[in-house]
Amino acid sequence: MKNIVAITSSLLLSASVASAAIPSTPAEKEKMDKFISELMSRMTLDEKLGQLNLPPSDDIVTGQTINSNIGAAVAAGQVGGTFNIKGAAKIRDLQKIAVENTRLGIPLLFGMDVIHGYETIFPIPLGLSCTWDMAAVEQSARIAAKEMSAAGVCWTFSPMVDISRDPRWGRMSEGSGEDPYLGSEVARAMVRGYQGDNLKNNDEVMACVKHFALYGASESGRDYNTVDMSRGRMYNEYFAPYKAAVDAGAGSVMSSFNLVDGIPATENKWLLDDVLRRQWNFDGFVVTDYGSIGEVAVHGLENLPDASVRSLKAGTDMDMCSFGFIGTLKQSLDEGKVSMADIDKAVRRVLEAKYRLGLFDNPYKYNDVAREKRDIYTAENRAAARAIAAKSFVLLKNEDEVLPLAKKGKIALIGPMANSAVNMPGTWSVAADAKKYKSLRQGFEDALKGKAEVLYAKGSNLYEDAALEAACEVFGHDMRDPRSEQELLDEALRVAADADVIVAAMGEASESSGESSSKTDLTLPDTQRRLLEALLATGKPVVMVNFSGRPTVMTWESENVPAILNVWFGGSEAADAIADVVFGDVNPSGKLTASMPYNVGQVPVYYNHFNTGRPKDPNDPSFQKYRSNYIDSPNEPLYPFGYGLSYTDFGYSDLRLDSSELAADGAITASVVVTNTGKRAGDEVVQFYIRDLQGSVARPVKELKHFERITLAPGESRTVEFRITPEDLKFYNYDLEFVAEPGEFQIMAGPDSRRLLTQPFTLK
Ligand code: BGC
Repeated sequence: MKNIVAITSSLLLSASVASAAIPSTPAEKEKMDKFISELMSRMTLDEKLGQLNLPPSDDIVTGQTINSNIGAAVAAGQVGGTFNIKGAAKIRDLQKIAVENTRLGIPLLFGMDVIHGYETIFPIPLGLSCTWDMAAVEQSARIAAKEMSAAGVCWTFSPMVDISRDPRWGRMSEGSGEDPYLGSEVARAMVRGYQGDNLKNNDEVMACVKHFALYGASESGRDYNTVDMSRGRMYNEYFAPYKAAVDAGAGSVMSSFNLVDGIPATENKWLLDDVLRRQWNFDGFVVTDYGSIGEVAVHGLENLPDASVRSLKAGTDMDMCSFGFIGTLKQSLDEGKVSMADIDKAVRRVLEAKYRLGLFDNPYKYNDVAREKRDIYTAENRAAARAIAAKSFVLLKNEDEVLPLAKKGKIALIGPMANSAVNMPGTWSVAADAKKYKSLRQGFEDALKGKAEVLYAKGSNLYEDAALEAACEVFGHDMRDPRSEQELLDEALRVAADADVIVAAMGEASESSGESSSKTDLTLPDTQRRLLEALLATGKPVVMVNFSGRPTVMTWESENVPAILNVWFGGSEAADAIADVVFGDVNPSGKLTASMPYNVGQVPVYYNHFNTGRPKDPNDPSFQKYRSNYIDSPNEPLYPFGYGLSYTDFGYSDLRLDSSELAADGAITASVVVTNTGKRAGDEVVQFYIRDLQGSVARPVKELKHFERITLAPGESRTVEFRITPEDLKFYNYDLEFVAEPGEFQIMAGPDSRRLLTQPFTLK
């Protein structure tokens, strides 16, 4: 034991001359390489394979770490890291085993799915993206990093940057919607927020970009399903946000469950080696998704030993929960299927991550119990989460200015989401402490104290069918009310009869979206719809607050309900934030980042599609035979990408270009005048789109290229500019070269992807 401690401390000492950050100079890189080479020269094969193993941690009881399965595996040198343990003390205990009870004392990585906040929870990523506010996105990641690092976690399995155009897929909630440009901006902001000052400090954590690649294009929106896509679409659309995150310096990448060109991403050499490492110069490490090496055989390819070989050789460095690397690579080495060099390459990358995080300098860098008590769920963090949540809500409809509601009289709050604090944070809130969060009812009562009365009734269950409801409450939330539909409705109508205005808190439960939560029906569940109809029949003003982890189908509601506020899942402070917007303390400014369809049959429906050879005449709403359209539905979505209302109005005019010709090495400036024509101050997200009218391959009908969030007082105008360079016109051609092709273009500007002013220009 004495020996072990001596070796350990010598290891720590030698590392302490190294800087704890991503090496940014050749000298720092050389120092890191030397340190790791020296360490690796002392490692046995077993110790090396241990570094490549990322098992789950689920059996730890406080004070019993040493007796847990994971504790025993760590002591046996079989673990490189683990994930989803909550608490600095537990993590310290486990780290201590690695540092003090193993021969070389190599510290562990501690990961967690901190997807949209730790205990202070921000809106689900789809909602967060609807802020179009990159400073807010970055701040949310910064706060998440501060809180998780105070609790011992140094590695987050975020950002999830999978583009998705299929709201049937429950994991759309975890990404930033349908657009490559906006998705890339969000990806960069998240990495900056997590990794901060290059991981130098103890409140910065390593990002893990996921799920590489194309996971959001699962066929038919069913989770874990097959993906099949052209390379043109990969490079021009789906790859963009992963590349942006890599360019921003993300320290790790998680491969996806799906096939990419017929080969599971986990063992796809083209994807992980050619694209990620060679074309994009990624120099961090690649971890698999949960058990995905083991799933290779189920996809119909190799068994676990061969899948482990192929994954390692493809560029996978760490095996999450398949136990393929630790269990089979030794034998494969004996059989000559892998080389020591293959193994060493992966080991080096995992050790580099630990070095970059500063764990060799101080393995307890993230185990400051005082910080854990002080820095988590603070008033300051909560205030930021509340403000950001309010920015994420999208006002879809507001007939006759029903909203905002006055803080007076009697307000009936009715619906299955009205009194459910556990449903506020949203899916993937691993470290949430729902006891600390408010229900919407509580939020309304606090906002209206002394001014107005809140009357409450549940009104209905989530679904008529108890089994369907149970499928959305898998984590033990039990919202089911034993009363009959009629009893619940009668109570709601009694409450409504007594009120001046009705707020209907409805939609899907938080676990109706997220992993393994695909749906084929995106309309408001049956029993809730009947309740809504009955509330509308009272003749009182009704405001619908729609909770959703995806774009839902609101066609009926858009025709029948006077005001609709889409609130996604707003996080730990959602209740106060919703009250802020409903009662007018905050003017809504969120804009959709995913199209909201008229019906599920339109899916996938997204704004930046290609034209067909037979496009429909947009000025003729009727069905057009032999044109590309539906007999029974419009082509366009109900609410388009970029759409969202405010309590004020904005006018757009004077879209100009300072020149209609752009030189190959030049720049031109587009400008548009935006005016607040209403009576309140408000924020507007001004959007610029470009269309390439003739390419060597088909080009989208429009692509977002720039946006700016501005604040305008009533009557105020602002000229918003976009400096266009040939860089903004580049795309991957048929040979996958990134080029701008001379020719005719259009610049468009407006409040969403549908209502746009247009001007032509030429690239010389
Ligand atoms: C999910 C990942 C997640 C991992 C670890 C998987 O099932 O697909 O997004 O990071 O589990 O919890």
